[in-house]
Amino acid sequence: MTDPVAGKGRFITFEGGEGVGKSTQVRILFEKLMERGIDCLLTREPGGSTGAEEVRELLVKGGTDKWHPMTEALLHNAARAEHLESTVKPAIKDGTWVISDRYADSTLAYQGYGQGVEVETLLKLHAISTADYWPDLTIVLDGNELHRAIEREEESFDKEDRYERMGEDFHERLQRSFVDIANKNPERCVLISANGTIDEVAARVWLAVQDRLGL
Ligand code: TMP
Repeated sequence: MTDPVAGKGRFITFEGGEGVGKSTQVRILFEKLMERGIDCLLTREPGGSTGAEEVRELLVKGGTDKWHPMTEALLHNAARAEHLESTVKPAIKDGTWVISDRYADSTLAYQGYGQGVEVETLLKLHAISTADYWPDLTIVLDGNELHRAIEREEESFDKEDRYERMGEDFHERLQRSFVDIANKNPERCVLISANGTIDEVAARVWLAVQDRLGL
């Protein structure tokens, strides 16, 4: 077997603000990798395992002020620990590439920059909850998310919109925070413009994956 990536599981995460087209790009990458013959698993946070999906329900629905920020950070970490142990790590051990729609950077952005929990505290919490488990590659999408988030807020009847209802200031802080996180972690993160067509963004993502993961 000459394929340099065969048999080696990888963990790729996607991050970004609301409505930045992240879920579409996650799906496209998944399909491209499968076409290339790489065994892939698509998952998401909060969620991605039976228990973590139950915790997700507590977080994404209901009043915006239903939790104190620290409680919220703990719930996301609890869901993450469950997701990692039940879904992510077993798949990677089997040689599967796991692609997650959000991971720990979302906690730093939403609960840290957005809701005011100290980032240092969140990093400690992450170290405790996951034994400091970080992805091989994080794609951070940066684009016109604020505009689209407001559009979605007005149009959406989806009840999973608790964070989308957190207001303009909150979403502005988020946008900046993801860029900040990407810039502070250049060895793990690639910052990709989400502006342009879906295909243009997908091409940028594919280049980054090829470059960083040696495809
Ligand atoms: P989704 O809409 O991308 O599925 O994510 C659900 C929401 O959860 C989204 O608005 C971002 C938020 N979130 C956090 O606040 N902290 C986290 O750690 C994660 C993973 C998501």
